Amino acid sequence: MYHLNFAPKTFIEQYWQKKPLLIKNAFENFEDIITPDELAGLACEDSVSSRVVITKENDWQIIEGPFEDYDQFGDKNWQLLVQALNHWHPDSAGFINAFRFLPDWRFDDLMVSFATPGGGVGAHIDNYDVFIIQGEGERHWTVGDKGLYAPKNNDPTTPLIEGFEPIIDVVLEKGDLLYIPPGFPHQGQTLTTAMSYSMGFRAPSQQELFSEIADNLIDNATGLKRFTSQSEPTQASQVSTQHQQHMMALIAEFAACPNSYQAVLGKMLSQNRFELDLCEPEEEYSAEELDDYICQGALLYRIGGLKLLQLEGDCTSRVFINGEAFEYPEDIEENITQLTQRLSFDNQQAALLFQCSATKELILTLLNRGYFYFGE
Ligand code: SIN
Ligand code: CO
Repeated sequence: MYHLNFAPKTFIEQYWQKKPLLIKNAFENFEDIITPDELAGLACEDSVSSRVVITKENDWQIIEGPFEDYDQFGDKNWQLLVQALNHWHPDSAGFINAFRFLPDWRFDDLMVSFATPGGGVGAHIDNYDVFIIQGEGERHWTVGDKGLYAPKNNDPTTPLIEGFEPIIDVVLEKGDLLYIPPGFPHQGQTLTTAMSYSMGFRAPSQQELFSEIADNLIDNATGLKRFTSQSEPTQASQVSTQHQQHMMALIAEFAACPNSYQAVLGKMLSQNRFELDLCEPEEEYSAEELDDYICQGALLYRIGGLKLLQLEGDCTSRVFINGEAFEYPEDIEENITQLTQRLSFDNQQAALLFQCSATKELILTLLNRGYFYFGE
């Protein structure tokens, strides 16, 4: 069990998206979620996104995975980073649950780092919120204030920045947590061989929102309303202020109508940036087979990273899963709530859900898609 030693409500009010926070011993008796050997093994797989960062005097080098062996890197000044551990390692579920005081749509992934002494990615700024939790070993972290910082070595292509004045300067030990909101410079340096976990949370940019909306309009051949005007400017070469505003009002009109944007948001926010480890059955399950599994005592699991989202005030009864809308009859709302809130179901909970034929039908579809799986 991973239990956070702080009050989520106070954290959200005072720190979330506002300022960094250090919590020593945020997880009491913290146990690493994965061993370095298991992590190294995962990073050998094609479908897993991994990289090794080698720290150099005034620079760094990134080598993208998968990796066959690590001997070439020696025993210091490098770090292995593996993204989306929660997709590939079901034991992460309890740890993920500890952060579900924040909405699922914001959650990006759980990144794990195995770092040797001297390893670290250098001073940088992220555009997402991150909780860094220290496992085995010790790392020295500094966090600076929000601001404008020069790129390292004046290189406009580098993600690294020149130094910053620390407002937090700490050695993280097992179970400690450091929260860093977007825009705050930070740097981690490894003191002893260390495992650390980065819980990343992300929100869409204007660019991403516009692009999703545009794709949706094109796919559905909607948004065809055109600009019209009652008056024209006297200068032929001029686009009047009024015309500019009325064109932008066409966008605002679209954005003000839940019927047009809800499906776009639901689909967009329920998608994942990292590959999912789909658990498709070799042969599709039938409804009768589901009953057999339940009779044999099976448990029901959601695959790691899969998002099941609902929109408050949605105009249709539907749940968004991995970029797709699944409609359901209104009277199974309570079961859908269960399905969206839990990551796993014991045999009795699953049996209860299967008692309702519409719920069972939806779960059957999700099992056959490889979104859910039976386990023991
Ligand atoms: C690291 O663990 O060094 C990288 C995490 C980060 O800085 O976002
Ligand atoms: Co960072």
